[in-house]
Amino acid sequence: MQYFDIIGGSRLKGSVEISGSKNAALPIIAASILCDGETILRNVPDLADVRQMLTLLLRLGVKSHRDADGALHLRVEDEMNVHAEYELVSKMRASVCVMGPLLAKRRRAQVSMPGGCAIGDRPIDLHILGLQTLGADFELANGDVLLKAKKLKAAEIFLGGPFGSSVTATANVMMAATLAEGRTIIASAACEPEVTDLANFLIACGARITGHGTPEITVEGVDRLKGTEHRVIADRIEAGTFMMAAAITNGDLDLVGARMDHMRAVVDRLRRVGIIVERGEKGITVSSSRRLEPVTITTQPYPGFPTDLQAQAMALLCLADGNSIITEKIYPDRFLHVGELNRMGAQLHKEGPTVIISGVKRLVGAPVMASDLRASAALILAGLIAKGTTRVQRAYHIDRGYESIEEKLQKVGANIRRQNES
Ligand code: EPU
Repeated sequence: MQYFDIIGGSRLKGSVEISGSKNAALPIIAASILCDGETILRNVPDLADVRQMLTLLLRLGVKSHRDADGALHLRVEDEMNVHAEYELVSKMRASVCVMGPLLAKRRRAQVSMPGGCAIGDRPIDLHILGLQTLGADFELANGDVLLKAKKLKAAEIFLGGPFGSSVTATANVMMAATLAEGRTIIASAACEPEVTDLANFLIACGARITGHGTPEITVEGVDRLKGTEHRVIADRIEAGTFMMAAAITNGDLDLVGARMDHMRAVVDRLRRVGIIVERGEKGITVSSSRRLEPVTITTQPYPGFPTDLQAQAMALLCLADGNSIITEKIYPDRFLHVGELNRMGAQLHKEGPTVIISGVKRLVGAPVMASDLRASAALILAGLIAKGTTRVQRAYHIDRGYESIEEKLQKVGANIRRQNES
């Protein structure tokens, strides 16, 4: 198993290329199941989760390869298999994104029911509700969700859940509705830029979608979709993580390709902390050279502050001059990083879905355990500023969602090394 050793204290300076968005790429790759002919995707990050999705697609008869420029080519060669097995789904929940496309194109889907994960219970009731409302028969057998429908029929669907909208449920229902008969309205749809990117991809394939990016999406069903070329948007969570890296090290970073319009809530909070965030020529520039002010952060569906940056923001606020409060409104149990940050000298006190962060003067290096993707990013951030060496075990968590993270950090001056356990 691999781990990272980080020696804290370097000020980060320079420019970082922001990769394509993992959470936009995964459902778009799944959507290629819907398409006749070739789909060509640019700016798809080379990540463990993307490779995992391509393995699943291969089992489902979709062949893929990267060309010399890094573009990902996908083509459906065999439509027989409709089974996303437990072995693959249990490794990556985004595998559920094949459900809508399989049902719409192959009229059947058998997808292993994902269990809970390190960030809490993650039900898929809204995905099933949406697809049932489009006319699918649903059954649960041997831990698999079985869905079938001779022809999907458009419907009005309310997709709101106890924690607001659902990103991948909106993606699944929108993908299925593209080939349904008639006009589907998805109310309480997720507004995340990743859903908008998927809609733009589907429109380029011939789908008729309006309202994407708002809570009401309308889809007029068409008979077929044709593969197209599409460039995936920049990863706002990776960009946000590097913003925090600049902030926590009192550094100065140009985030090439980062999009301000996707990051308003994050920029607002960081500015209140005292960080200078500006639109740059090629993206966003971030700099910091002063003490950090404490702030209150509540995670919310887009355009609110993203849950996927909650852990990283917590690492930053450990060093603020006063008490900050973070409340998690999407995944109330997404706090496994709290205990690990406390091992590094943070003063965090958790009370239900809220953490009170009493700022400290410094963090100290320690061996810590990554529990999930974003928690590992938070531990790396803490390591960048901690006194001494921080060892972040289980590097594989970070590799799921950050492309070449140690190379990108080294290039701007961080002292981080990937090591192999002997
Ligand atoms: N929910 C339900 N029922 C459902 C689906 C969701 O109650 O059927 C609840 C969830 O338990 C949660 C809330 O609704 O409380 C929102 O979950 P959502 O469905 O939006 O999450 P997701 O689609 O499974 C995506 C990202 C996550 C990100 C969340 C929230 C992908 C592949 N994953 O997950 O990304 O945290 O949206 O923004 O897009 C990550 O990248 O680290 C990650 C976990």
